[in-house]
Amino acid sequence: MSVNPKIEHLRARRALSQQGGGPERVKRQHDAGRNTARERLDILLDPGSFRELDAFVKHRSTDFGLGEQEFVGDSVVTGWGTISGRLVYVFSQDFTVLGGSLSEVHAEKILKVMDMAMRTGSPIIGLMDSGGARIQEGVISLGGYASIFLKNTLASGVIPQISVIMGPCAGGAVYSPALTDFIFMVKDTSYMFITGPDVVKQVTHEDVTAEELGGASVHAAKSGVAHIVGENETQTLLLVREMFSYLPQNNMEDPPLVPTSDDPLRSDADLDTIVPDSPNKPYDMKEVVKRVVDDGVFYEVQPDYAANIVVGFARLGGHSVGVVANQPMVLAGVLDIKASEKAARFIRFCDCFNLPIITFVDVPGYLPGTAQEHNGIIMSGAKLLYAYCEATVPKLTVTTRKSYGGAYCVMSSKHIRGDLNLAWPTAEIAVMGPEGAVEIIYRRDLKDAHDPAQLKAEMAAQYREKLANPYIAAERGFVDDVIEPRETRARLINGLEVFQNKRDSNPPKKHGNIPL
Ligand code: HXC
Repeated sequence: MSVNPKIEHLRARRALSQQGGGPERVKRQHDAGRNTARERLDILLDPGSFRELDAFVKHRSTDFGLGEQEFVGDSVVTGWGTISGRLVYVFSQDFTVLGGSLSEVHAEKILKVMDMAMRTGSPIIGLMDSGGARIQEGVISLGGYASIFLKNTLASGVIPQISVIMGPCAGGAVYSPALTDFIFMVKDTSYMFITGPDVVKQVTHEDVTAEELGGASVHAAKSGVAHIVGENETQTLLLVREMFSYLPQNNMEDPPLVPTSDDPLRSDADLDTIVPDSPNKPYDMKEVVKRVVDDGVFYEVQPDYAANIVVGFARLGGHSVGVVANQPMVLAGVLDIKASEKAARFIRFCDCFNLPIITFVDVPGYLPGTAQEHNGIIMSGAKLLYAYCEATVPKLTVTTRKSYGGAYCVMSSKHIRGDLNLAWPTAEIAVMGPEGAVEIIYRRDLKDAHDPAQLKAEMAAQYREKLANPYIAAERGFVDDVIEPRETRARLINGLEVFQNKRDSNPPKKHGNIPL
Protein backbone atom coordinates (compact mmCIF):
# COMPACT_ATOMS: atom_id res chain seq x y z
CA MET A 1 0.00 0.00 0.00
CA SER A 2 1.39 3.41 -0.93
CA VAL A 3 2.15 5.88 1.86
CA ASN A 4 0.14 9.07 2.04
CA PRO A 5 2.39 11.76 0.46
CA LYS A 6 1.82 14.04 3.46
CA ILE A 7 3.13 11.34 5.75
CA GLU A 8 6.05 10.82 3.37
CA HIS A 9 6.74 14.55 3.54
CA LEU A 10 6.63 14.41 7.36
CA ARG A 11 9.10 11.54 7.37
CA ALA A 12 11.46 13.36 5.04
CA ARG A 13 11.25 16.52 7.13
CA ARG A 14 11.91 14.57 10.32
CA ALA A 15 14.89 12.83 8.72
CA LEU A 16 16.26 16.23 7.78
CA SER A 17 15.84 17.44 11.36
CA GLN A 18 17.78 14.44 12.61
CA GLN A 19 20.84 14.92 10.48
CA GLY A 20 22.26 17.94 12.29
CA GLY A 21 24.97 19.71 10.30
CA GLY A 22 25.30 16.81 7.83
CA PRO A 23 27.52 13.75 7.57
CA GLU A 24 30.78 15.65 7.16
CA ARG A 25 30.37 17.71 10.31
CA VAL A 26 29.06 14.68 12.22
CA LYS A 27 32.22 12.83 11.20
CA ARG A 28 34.32 15.75 12.46
CA GLN A 29 32.46 15.56 15.77
CA HIS A 30 33.09 11.82 16.05
CA ASP A 31 36.73 12.21 15.04
CA ALA A 32 37.16 14.68 17.88
CA GLY A 33 36.01 11.94 20.27
CA ARG A 34 32.58 13.47 20.78
CA ASN A 35 29.04 12.18 20.32
CA THR A 36 26.28 14.06 18.59
CA ALA A 37 23.55 15.85 20.52
CA ARG A 38 21.11 12.96 20.00
CA GLU A 39 23.61 10.21 20.81
CA ARG A 40 24.24 11.94 24.13
CA LEU A 41 20.55 12.03 24.97
CA ASP A 42 20.36 8.30 24.25
CA ILE A 43 23.03 7.70 26.91
CA LEU A 44 21.57 10.11 29.46
CA LEU A 45 17.92 9.09 29.34
CA ASP A 46 16.11 5.81 29.91
CA PRO A 47 15.96 3.91 26.59
CA GLY A 48 13.08 5.05 24.39
CA SER A 49 11.90 7.72 26.84
CA PHE A 50 12.95 10.82 24.89
CA ARG A 51 10.16 12.89 23.34
CA GLU A 52 11.39 15.67 21.11
CA LEU A 53 9.83 19.12 20.82
CA ASP A 54 10.26 21.76 18.14
CA ALA A 55 12.10 19.48 15.72
CA PHE A 56 10.92 21.60 12.78
CA VAL A 57 12.00 25.00 14.07
CA LYS A 58 14.25 26.93 11.70
CA HIS A 59 16.54 29.85 12.29
CA ARG A 60 15.19 33.20 11.09
CA SER A 61 18.32 35.10 10.25
CA THR A 62 19.45 34.79 6.64
CA ASP A 63 22.34 37.23 6.72
CA PHE A 64 25.99 36.33 6.11
CA GLY A 65 25.08 33.36 3.94
CA LEU A 66 22.99 31.70 6.63
CA GLY A 67 19.95 31.65 4.35
CA GLU A 68 21.69 29.34 1.91
CA GLN A 69 21.78 26.54 4.46
CA GLU A 70 18.86 24.64 5.88
CA PHE A 71 19.20 23.27 9.38
CA VAL A 72 15.79 21.92 10.41
CA GLY A 73 15.56 22.10 14.21
CA ASP A 74 18.51 24.54 14.28
CA SER A 75 21.40 23.89 16.65
CA VAL A 76 19.70 22.39 19.70
CA VAL A 77 17.60 19.29 20.40
CA THR A 78 15.01 19.73 23.18
CA GLY A 79 12.33 17.69 24.91
CA TRP A 80 11.67 15.48 27.90
CA GLY A 81 12.49 11.95 28.97
CA THR A 82 13.07 9.96 32.11
CA ILE A 83 16.02 8.97 34.29
CA SER A 84 15.26 5.83 36.30
CA GLY A 85 11.61 6.47 35.54
CA ARG A 86 11.59 10.08 36.80
CA LEU A 87 10.66 12.95 34.48
CA VAL A 88 13.38 15.33 33.38
CA TYR A 89 13.52 18.08 30.75
CA VAL A 90 16.56 18.26 28.54
CA PHE A 91 18.26 20.29 25.87
CA SER A 92 21.29 19.14 23.94
CA GLN A 93 23.23 21.60 21.81
CA ASP A 94 24.31 20.41 18.39
CA PHE A 95 27.84 21.56 17.61
CA THR A 96 27.54 20.24 14.06
CA VAL A 97 25.07 23.02 13.27
CA LEU A 98 26.92 26.34 13.21
CA GLY A 99 29.02 25.32 16.21
CA GLY A 100 25.93 24.85 18.40
CA SER A 101 25.72 28.64 18.48
CA LEU A 102 22.68 30.20 20.08
CA SER A 103 20.26 31.84 17.66
CA GLU A 104 16.94 33.45 18.46
CA VAL A 105 15.05 30.17 17.87
CA HIS A 106 17.68 28.09 19.68
CA ALA A 107 17.02 30.29 22.73
CA GLU A 108 13.25 29.96 22.29
CA LYS A 109 13.52 26.17 22.24
CA ILE A 110 15.51 26.15 25.48
CA LEU A 111 13.20 28.68 27.14
CA LYS A 112 10.20 26.51 26.26
CA VAL A 113 11.58 23.41 28.00
CA MET A 114 12.72 25.47 30.97
CA ASP A 115 9.17 26.84 31.31
CA MET A 116 7.75 23.32 31.11
CA ALA A 117 10.22 22.08 33.72
CA MET A 118 9.15 24.88 36.06
CA ARG A 119 5.43 24.27 35.43
CA THR A 120 5.73 20.56 36.15
CA GLY A 121 8.31 20.87 38.94
CA SER A 122 10.92 18.75 37.15
CA PRO A 123 14.70 19.05 36.92
CA ILE A 124 16.33 20.35 33.77
CA ILE A 125 19.59 19.09 32.31
CA GLY A 126 21.45 21.00 29.60
CA LEU A 127 24.08 19.28 27.48
CA MET A 128 26.23 22.17 26.35
CA ASP A 129 28.32 22.17 23.19
CA SER A 130 28.28 25.66 21.80
CA GLY A 131 30.40 28.57 20.64
CA GLY A 132 28.01 30.94 22.43
CA ALA A 133 25.87 33.67 20.91
CA ARG A 134 25.42 33.23 17.14
CA ILE A 135 27.63 35.94 15.79
CA GLN A 136 25.51 36.50 12.67
CA GLU A 137 22.41 37.25 14.73
CA GLY A 138 24.03 39.97 16.81
CA VAL A 139 21.96 41.45 19.59
CA ILE A 140 19.06 39.09 18.91
CA SER A 141 21.14 36.15 20.12
CA LEU A 142 22.43 38.19 23.06
CA GLY A 143 18.80 38.84 23.97
CA GLY A 144 18.15 35.09 23.76
CA TYR A 145 20.94 34.47 26.25
CA ALA A 146 19.76 37.20 28.59
CA SER A 147 16.31 35.59 28.64
CA ILE A 148 17.89 32.21 29.48
CA PHE A 149 19.96 33.79 32.27
CA LEU A 150 16.79 35.27 33.75
CA LYS A 151 15.00 31.91 33.55
CA ASN A 152 18.03 30.14 35.13
CA THR A 153 17.90 32.62 37.99
CA LEU A 154 14.16 32.30 38.51
CA ALA A 155 14.40 28.50 38.44
CA SER A 156 17.27 28.52 40.96
CA GLY A 157 16.11 26.86 44.17
CA VAL A 158 12.84 25.72 42.55
CA ILE A 159 14.03 22.85 40.33
CA PRO A 160 17.48 21.26 40.19
CA GLN A 161 19.40 22.54 37.16
CA ILE A 162 22.38 20.55 35.87
CA SER A 163 24.77 21.55 33.09
CA VAL A 164 27.03 19.12 31.30
CA ILE A 165 29.84 20.66 29.27
CA MET A 166 30.43 18.34 26.34
CA GLY A 167 32.56 20.34 23.91
CA PRO A 168 34.26 23.70 23.50
CA CYS A 169 31.84 26.08 25.22
CA ALA A 170 32.20 29.82 25.16
CA GLY A 171 30.33 33.01 26.08
CA GLY A 172 26.74 32.51 27.11
CA ALA A 173 27.27 28.75 26.83
CA VAL A 174 29.31 28.99 30.02
CA TYR A 175 27.43 31.77 31.81
CA SER A 176 24.16 29.89 31.75
CA PRO A 177 25.82 26.81 33.36
CA ALA A 178 27.41 29.09 35.94
CA LEU A 179 23.90 30.02 37.08
CA THR A 180 22.86 26.37 37.45
CA ASP A 181 23.45 24.05 40.41
CA PHE A 182 26.09 21.66 39.10
CA ILE A 183 28.53 21.67 36.20
CA PHE A 184 29.87 18.40 34.79
CA MET A 185 32.80 18.31 32.36
CA VAL A 186 34.42 15.62 30.21
CA LYS A 187 38.17 15.05 30.49
CA ASP A 188 40.18 16.03 27.37
CA THR A 189 37.19 16.85 25.14
CA SER A 190 35.32 19.67 26.86
CA TYR A 191 36.33 23.25 27.55
CA MET A 192 34.79 26.29 29.17
CA PHE A 193 35.91 29.85 28.64
CA ILE A 194 34.32 33.22 28.18
CA THR A 195 36.02 33.24 24.79
CA GLY A 196 38.31 30.78 23.02
CA PRO A 197 42.11 30.79 22.45
CA ASP A 198 41.90 32.65 19.08
CA VAL A 199 40.16 35.66 20.57
CA VAL A 200 42.42 35.54 23.64
CA LYS A 201 45.41 35.75 21.31
CA GLN A 202 43.97 38.80 19.58
CA VAL A 203 43.05 40.63 22.76
CA THR A 204 45.87 39.80 25.17
CA HIS A 205 48.47 38.33 22.77
CA GLU A 206 48.53 35.33 25.09
CA ASP A 207 49.27 31.97 23.47
CA VAL A 208 47.23 29.37 25.24
CA THR A 209 45.66 26.05 24.31
CA ALA A 210 41.99 25.32 24.90
CA GLU A 211 43.01 22.79 27.55
CA GLU A 212 45.22 25.28 29.40
CA LEU A 213 42.59 27.99 29.20
CA GLY A 214 39.55 26.03 30.27
CA GLY A 215 40.00 22.26 30.21
CA ALA A 216 38.32 19.96 32.70
CA SER A 217 41.38 19.69 34.93
CA VAL A 218 41.70 23.48 35.14
CA HIS A 219 38.09 23.92 36.18
CA ALA A 220 38.09 20.91 38.51
CA ALA A 221 41.24 21.84 40.44
CA LYS A 222 42.03 25.54 39.89
CA SER A 223 38.90 27.58 39.29
CA GLY A 224 36.45 25.26 41.01
CA VAL A 225 33.93 25.94 38.22
CA ALA A 226 33.43 22.23 37.46
CA HIS A 227 31.86 20.02 40.11
CA ILE A 228 32.28 16.60 38.51
CA VAL A 229 34.64 15.41 35.75
CA GLY A 230 34.08 12.19 33.83
CA GLU A 231 36.73 10.21 31.96
CA ASN A 232 34.69 10.25 28.77
CA GLU A 233 31.24 11.31 27.57
CA THR A 234 29.49 8.08 28.52
CA GLN A 235 30.91 7.98 32.03
CA THR A 236 30.09 11.66 32.54
CA LEU A 237 26.45 11.15 31.53
CA LEU A 238 26.20 8.11 33.80
CA LEU A 239 27.54 10.25 36.64
CA VAL A 240 24.73 12.74 35.94
CA ARG A 241 22.21 9.90 36.25
CA GLU A 242 23.80 8.88 39.53
CA MET A 243 23.69 12.38 41.00
CA PHE A 244 20.07 12.68 39.89
CA SER A 245 19.19 9.72 42.12
CA TYR A 246 19.98 11.81 45.23
CA LEU A 247 17.84 14.79 44.22
CA PRO A 248 14.15 15.57 44.56
CA GLN A 249 12.14 16.71 41.54
CA ASN A 250 11.71 20.20 42.99
CA ASN A 251 11.86 22.29 46.17
CA MET A 252 8.44 21.10 47.36
CA GLU A 253 9.36 17.40 47.31
CA ASP A 254 11.64 15.25 49.40
CA PRO A 255 14.44 13.34 47.71
CA PRO A 256 13.58 9.73 46.82
CA LEU A 257 13.98 7.12 49.56
CA VAL A 258 16.21 4.27 48.34
CA PRO A 259 15.83 1.09 50.41
CA THR A 260 19.07 -0.54 51.47
CA SER A 261 20.07 -3.85 53.02
CA ASP A 262 22.72 -2.02 55.07
CA ASP A 263 21.60 -2.39 58.71
CA PRO A 264 20.67 1.01 60.18
CA LEU A 265 22.01 -0.19 63.54
CA ARG A 266 25.30 -1.39 62.05
CA SER A 267 28.14 -0.68 64.47
CA ASP A 268 31.70 -0.20 63.21
CA ALA A 269 34.37 -0.93 65.81
CA ASP A 270 37.16 0.37 63.53
CA LEU A 271 35.78 3.88 63.95
CA ASP A 272 36.78 3.74 67.62
CA THR A 273 40.45 3.76 66.63
CA ILE A 274 40.39 5.86 63.47
CA VAL A 275 41.35 9.12 65.22
CA PRO A 276 45.11 8.90 65.99
CA ASP A 277 46.38 9.49 69.53
CA SER A 278 48.51 12.42 68.42
CA PRO A 279 46.30 15.45 67.78
CA ASN A 280 48.50 16.53 64.87
CA LYS A 281 48.39 13.25 62.99
CA PRO A 282 46.00 13.19 60.05
CA TYR A 283 43.44 10.55 59.14
CA ASP A 284 41.09 10.30 56.20
CA MET A 285 37.69 11.81 56.96
CA LYS A 286 36.32 10.25 53.75
CA GLU A 287 36.99 6.89 55.36
CA VAL A 288 34.83 7.96 58.32
CA VAL A 289 32.06 9.07 55.97
CA LYS A 290 32.16 5.85 53.95
CA ARG A 291 32.06 3.72 57.09
CA VAL A 292 28.96 5.52 58.32
CA VAL A 293 26.76 5.90 55.20
CA ASP A 294 24.67 3.24 53.43
CA ASP A 295 26.74 0.61 51.62
CA GLY A 296 29.88 2.76 51.86
CA VAL A 297 28.73 4.85 48.88
CA PHE A 298 29.73 8.51 48.92
CA TYR A 299 29.12 10.65 45.79
CA GLU A 300 31.75 13.32 46.18
CA VAL A 301 31.34 16.74 44.56
CA GLN A 302 34.37 18.90 43.63
CA PRO A 303 36.87 16.28 44.90
CA ASP A 304 39.89 18.05 43.40
CA TYR A 305 39.08 21.57 44.56
CA ALA A 306 39.72 22.83 48.12
CA ALA A 307 40.21 19.24 49.24
CA ASN A 308 40.56 20.46 52.84
CA ILE A 309 36.79 20.28 52.92
CA VAL A 310 34.81 17.37 51.53
CA VAL A 311 31.25 17.72 50.23
CA GLY A 312 28.93 15.28 48.52
CA PHE A 313 25.83 13.14 48.60
CA ALA A 314 25.18 9.88 50.42
CA ARG A 315 22.30 7.96 51.98
CA LEU A 316 21.61 7.08 55.58
CA GLY A 317 18.92 4.48 56.16
CA GLY A 318 17.78 5.17 52.57
CA HIS A 319 17.47 8.94 53.11
CA SER A 320 19.41 11.20 50.76
CA VAL A 321 21.72 13.55 52.64
CA GLY A 322 24.35 16.18 51.90
CA VAL A 323 27.66 15.59 53.67
CA VAL A 324 30.07 18.37 54.63
CA ALA A 325 33.29 17.25 56.30
CA ASN A 326 36.61 18.82 57.23
CA GLN A 327 39.48 16.76 55.84
CA PRO A 328 42.44 16.48 58.26
CA MET A 329 44.50 14.90 55.44
CA VAL A 330 44.68 18.20 53.53
CA LEU A 331 46.04 21.36 55.23
CA ALA A 332 44.92 19.80 58.52
CA GLY A 333 41.32 20.48 57.46
CA VAL A 334 41.71 24.25 57.90
CA LEU A 335 38.99 26.54 56.54
CA ASP A 336 40.31 28.88 53.85
CA ILE A 337 38.63 31.00 51.19
CA LYS A 338 38.13 28.22 48.67
CA ALA A 339 36.93 25.68 51.23
CA SER A 340 34.45 28.14 52.71
CA GLU A 341 32.95 29.02 49.34
CA LYS A 342 32.83 25.41 48.18
CA ALA A 343 30.99 24.27 51.28
CA ALA A 344 28.71 27.33 51.46
CA ARG A 345 27.39 26.75 47.95
CA PHE A 346 26.82 23.07 48.58
CA ILE A 347 24.97 23.75 51.84
CA ARG A 348 22.70 26.25 50.10
CA PHE A 349 21.91 23.66 47.43
CA CYS A 350 21.00 21.10 50.10
CA ASP A 351 18.83 23.64 51.88
CA CYS A 352 16.99 24.55 48.64
CA PHE A 353 16.19 20.93 47.92
CA ASN A 354 15.35 19.43 51.31
CA LEU A 355 18.52 17.42 51.77
CA PRO A 356 19.47 17.14 55.45
CA ILE A 357 23.05 18.26 56.10
CA ILE A 358 25.39 15.92 57.96
CA THR A 359 28.55 17.69 59.14
CA PHE A 360 31.70 15.92 60.30
CA VAL A 361 33.94 18.32 62.19
CA ASP A 362 37.69 18.22 62.64
CA VAL A 363 38.89 21.75 62.06
CA PRO A 364 41.77 23.71 63.59
CA GLY A 365 40.17 27.05 62.61
CA TYR A 366 40.27 29.55 59.76
CA LEU A 367 43.59 29.89 57.93
CA PRO A 368 45.36 33.08 59.07
CA GLY A 369 47.88 35.19 57.13
CA THR A 370 48.15 37.96 54.57
CA ALA A 371 47.33 35.80 51.54
CA GLN A 372 43.96 34.88 52.99
CA GLU A 373 43.21 38.26 54.58
CA HIS A 374 44.05 40.22 51.45
CA ASN A 375 41.86 37.98 49.36
CA GLY A 376 38.92 38.37 51.69
CA ILE A 377 38.77 35.38 54.06
CA ILE A 378 36.53 37.52 56.27
CA MET A 379 33.84 37.70 53.60
CA SER A 380 34.38 34.16 52.33
CA GLY A 381 34.35 32.71 55.81
CA ALA A 382 31.15 34.62 56.46
CA LYS A 383 29.55 32.97 53.43
CA LEU A 384 29.93 29.60 55.05
CA LEU A 385 28.60 30.95 58.32
CA TYR A 386 25.65 32.53 56.56
CA ALA A 387 24.86 29.34 54.65
CA TYR A 388 24.80 27.22 57.80
CA CYS A 389 22.83 29.83 59.79
CA GLU A 390 20.23 30.23 57.07
CA ALA A 391 19.68 26.50 56.41
CA THR A 392 16.44 25.13 57.83
CA VAL A 393 16.81 21.50 56.73
CA PRO A 394 17.72 18.98 59.47
CA LYS A 395 21.32 19.63 60.51
CA LEU A 396 23.19 16.80 62.24
CA THR A 397 26.76 17.29 63.40
CA VAL A 398 29.46 14.88 64.53
CA THR A 399 32.63 16.35 66.01
CA THR A 400 35.37 13.76 65.69
CA ARG A 401 38.34 15.80 66.90
CA LYS A 402 39.22 19.49 66.72
CA SER A 403 36.60 22.19 66.77
CA TYR A 404 38.36 25.41 67.56
CA GLY A 405 37.47 29.06 67.55
CA GLY A 406 35.26 30.57 64.89
CA ALA A 407 35.27 27.27 63.08
CA TYR A 408 33.41 25.74 66.06
CA CYS A 409 30.64 28.31 65.67
CA VAL A 410 30.47 27.86 61.91
CA MET A 411 30.47 24.11 61.49
CA SER A 412 26.79 23.52 62.21
CA SER A 413 27.04 24.25 65.93
CA LYS A 414 24.06 24.05 68.26
CA HIS A 415 23.92 27.86 68.44
CA ILE A 416 23.15 28.20 64.73
CA ARG A 417 20.28 25.72 64.81
CA GLY A 418 22.15 22.42 64.77
CA ASP A 419 19.42 19.87 65.46
CA LEU A 420 21.54 17.04 66.76
CA ASN A 421 25.12 17.71 67.83
CA LEU A 422 27.11 14.63 68.70
CA ALA A 423 30.77 14.43 69.70
CA TRP A 424 33.23 11.59 69.88
CA PRO A 425 35.23 11.31 73.12
CA THR A 426 38.27 12.44 71.08
CA ALA A 427 36.65 15.84 70.42
CA GLU A 428 38.51 18.99 71.46
CA ILE A 429 36.15 21.95 71.59
CA ALA A 430 37.70 25.24 72.73
CA VAL A 431 38.65 28.76 71.66
CA MET A 432 42.00 27.59 70.32
CA GLY A 433 44.40 24.66 70.39
CA PRO A 434 46.49 24.03 73.55
CA GLU A 435 49.84 25.27 72.19
CA GLY A 436 48.43 28.58 70.90
CA ALA A 437 46.34 29.12 74.02
CA VAL A 438 49.24 28.52 76.41
CA GLU A 439 51.46 30.95 74.48
CA ILE A 440 48.89 33.68 75.06
CA ILE A 441 47.62 33.08 78.58
CA TYR A 442 51.02 32.19 80.08
CA ARG A 443 53.16 34.57 78.01
CA ARG A 444 54.73 36.26 81.07
CA ASP A 445 55.34 32.99 82.95
CA LEU A 446 56.95 31.45 79.89
CA LYS A 447 59.24 34.48 79.49
CA ASP A 448 60.47 34.20 83.06
CA ALA A 449 60.59 30.39 83.19
CA HIS A 450 63.80 28.49 83.83
CA ASP A 451 62.77 25.91 81.23
CA PRO A 452 60.07 27.47 79.00
CA ALA A 453 59.64 24.36 76.82
CA GLN A 454 58.99 22.18 79.83
CA LEU A 455 56.55 24.69 81.34
CA LYS A 456 54.74 25.06 78.02
CA ALA A 457 54.33 21.30 77.69
CA GLU A 458 52.96 21.06 81.23
CA MET A 459 50.52 23.92 80.75
CA ALA A 460 49.40 22.55 77.40
CA ALA A 461 48.72 19.17 78.99
CA GLN A 462 46.67 20.86 81.71
CA TYR A 463 44.78 22.91 79.15
CA ARG A 464 44.08 19.83 77.08
CA GLU A 465 42.68 18.01 80.06
CA LYS A 466 40.61 20.91 81.34
CA LEU A 467 39.37 22.59 78.19
CA ALA A 468 40.13 20.62 75.02
CA ASN A 469 37.51 17.93 75.40
CA PRO A 470 33.82 17.52 74.56
CA TYR A 471 32.50 17.59 78.13
CA ILE A 472 32.41 21.33 78.76
CA ALA A 473 30.24 21.70 75.66
CA ALA A 474 28.19 18.68 76.75
CA GLU A 475 27.69 20.15 80.24
CA ARG A 476 26.10 23.18 78.63
CA GLY A 477 24.03 21.17 76.18
CA PHE A 478 25.96 22.62 73.22
CA VAL A 479 26.74 19.00 72.42
CA ASP A 480 23.68 16.78 72.86
CA ASP A 481 25.65 13.63 73.55
CA VAL A 482 29.14 12.22 73.60
CA ILE A 483 29.00 8.91 71.77
CA GLU A 484 31.23 5.97 70.99
CA PRO A 485 32.41 6.39 67.40
CA ARG A 486 31.10 2.93 66.48
CA GLU A 487 27.53 4.12 67.18
CA THR A 488 27.69 7.03 64.73
CA ARG A 489 25.65 5.44 61.93
CA ALA A 490 22.84 4.31 64.19
CA ARG A 491 22.68 7.66 65.98
CA LEU A 492 22.60 9.66 62.74
CA ILE A 493 19.89 7.52 61.16
CA ASN A 494 17.82 7.79 64.31
CA GLY A 495 18.40 11.57 64.27
CA LEU A 496 17.30 11.82 60.65
CA GLU A 497 14.10 9.98 61.41
CA VAL A 498 13.39 12.16 64.44
CA PHE A 499 14.04 15.42 62.59
CA GLN A 500 12.61 14.55 59.19
CA ASN A 501 9.40 16.44 59.89
CA LYS A 502 11.19 19.31 61.53
CA ARG A 503 9.54 22.71 61.06
CA ASP A 504 11.81 25.71 60.93
CA SER A 505 11.73 28.91 58.94
CA ASN A 506 13.45 32.24 58.55
CA PRO A 507 11.74 35.63 59.02
CA PRO A 508 9.73 36.79 55.98
CA LYS A 509 11.90 38.84 53.64
CA LYS A 510 12.47 39.42 49.95
CA HIS A 511 15.82 37.69 50.29
CA GLY A 512 18.81 37.94 52.58
CA ASN A 513 22.07 39.59 51.67
CA ILE A 514 24.66 36.82 51.79
CA PRO A 515 28.17 38.33 51.80
CA LEU A 516 28.93 37.53 48.16
C1 HXC B 1 28.36 31.42 14.82
C2 HXC B 1 29.98 29.88 15.24
C3 HXC B 1 30.19 30.41 16.53
C4 HXC B 1 29.39 31.52 16.92
C5 HXC B 1 31.54 28.75 16.25
N1 HXC B 1 30.83 28.87 15.11
N2 HXC B 1 31.17 29.70 17.13
N3 HXC B 1 29.08 30.38 14.41
N4 HXC B 1 28.48 31.98 16.04
N5 HXC B 1 29.51 32.04 18.15
C6 HXC B 1 30.93 28.02 13.92
C7 HXC B 1 32.24 28.16 13.14
O1 HXC B 1 32.11 29.20 12.22
C8 HXC B 1 32.34 26.82 12.46
O2 HXC B 1 31.43 26.77 11.37
C9 HXC B 1 31.78 25.88 13.49
O3 HXC B 1 30.96 26.67 14.37
C10 HXC B 1 32.82 25.21 14.33
O4 HXC B 1 33.69 26.19 14.86
P1 HXC B 1 35.28 26.04 14.84
O5 HXC B 1 35.84 27.37 15.23
O6 HXC B 1 35.70 25.46 13.52
O7 HXC B 1 35.49 24.95 15.97
P2 HXC B 1 36.65 24.84 17.05
O8 HXC B 1 37.97 25.05 16.40
O9 HXC B 1 36.41 23.56 17.75
O10 HXC B 1 36.47 26.06 18.07
C11 HXC B 1 35.27 26.16 18.82
C12 HXC B 1 35.23 27.52 19.54
C13 HXC B 1 35.41 28.66 18.52
C14 HXC B 1 36.35 27.57 20.59
C15 HXC B 1 33.89 27.59 20.28
O11 HXC B 1 34.54 28.45 17.43
C16 HXC B 1 35.16 30.00 19.08
O12 HXC B 1 36.01 30.58 19.78
N6 HXC B 1 33.97 30.57 18.78
C17 HXC B 1 33.62 31.89 19.25
C18 HXC B 1 33.41 31.86 20.71
C19 HXC B 1 32.96 33.15 21.33
O13 HXC B 1 33.75 34.10 21.49
N7 HXC B 1 31.69 33.21 21.64
C20 HXC B 1 31.21 34.33 22.45
C21 HXC B 1 30.00 34.86 21.82
S1 HXC B 1 29.43 36.12 22.87
P3 HXC B 1 31.63 25.78 10.12
O14 HXC B 1 30.65 26.27 9.13
O15 HXC B 1 33.06 25.94 9.71
O16 HXC B 1 31.32 24.42 10.63
C22 HXC B 1 28.34 35.41 23.94
C23 HXC B 1 27.73 36.42 24.86
C24 HXC B 1 26.88 35.83 25.89
O17 HXC B 1 28.08 34.26 23.93
C25 HXC B 1 26.65 36.73 27.04
C26 HXC B 1 27.54 36.43 28.21
C27 HXC B 1 27.23 37.20 29.47
